[in-house]
Amino acid sequence: MTTTLLLGTTGMLSAAAAHAVARSKKAVLVSRNADAFSFNNDVLDHKITPINVSYDDEAAFLDALERHAPFDLALTWLHPPADILRAALDGMIAPQGRLVEVMGSRSLLLGKDGEASIAERRAQALGLQDEFTYAQVILGFMLEGASSRWLTHAEISAAAIAQMEHPQPRLVAGVLEPWERRPK
Ligand SMILES: NC(=O)c1ccc[n+]([C@@H]2O[C@H](COP(=O)([O-])OP(=O)(O)OC[C@H]3O[C@@H](n4cnc5c(N)ncnc54)[C@H](OP(=O)(O)O)[C@@H]3O)[C@@H](O)[C@H]2O)c1
Repeated sequence: MTTTLLLGTTGMLSAAAAHAVARSKKAVLVSRNADAFSFNNDVLDHKITPINVSYDDEAAFLDALERHAPFDLALTWLHPPADILRAALDGMIAPQGRLVEVMGSRSLLLGKDGEASIAERRAQALGLQDEFTYAQVILGFMLEGASSRWLTHAEISAAAIAQMEHPQPRLVAGVLEPWERRPK
């Protein structure tokens, strides 16, 4: 039984969040409007402690989460690179715990001045440690004949669940190439 952190999981990742909560003793659900969220399932909802806080206020955000750490499992989806914030979250993962970090299609693009991408920086930094398991999900797109589409929420959550159950350093959901065929 685990204590789980769910960050940014009230939208496209809600099915993956439900899967995580089902296997957890308790879960901390963090987003700006976390207390408005429900799984519409009393058993799952009963295990949740919602925290309304924005990751844009890093100090308040980390202060709120630290009270509930360490986390045996964390499922995170946040937009900005926020290297320092992500590193602080790493410090809240329990020894031998698991961090499933979901990132968008652009997270593998080089930064300005040829700086390594946020996805690569994270993979390299966390590949060097053995305190906890790091499992990255990169959201790609789907090629369908001559056209393409973004992933469905079900496909996105399925990838996150796969990383919870059988973690690998990086899982690309869908494809990232050819990049020029991504949906516009
Ligand atoms: N490559 C791809 O296929 C790809 C990649 C990315 C997105 N998408 C698509 O784009 C759509 C929209 O993406 P989305 O990012 O809006 O995802 P989302 O999963 O619908 O919602 C974003 C999540 O992050 C939380 N959040 C947002 N800003 C926050 C903040 N400042 N602090 C704390 N939590 C915050 C939101 O909750 P609160 O509002 O309560 O804060 C929510 O839980 C998705 O439905 C998905 O289909 C596709």
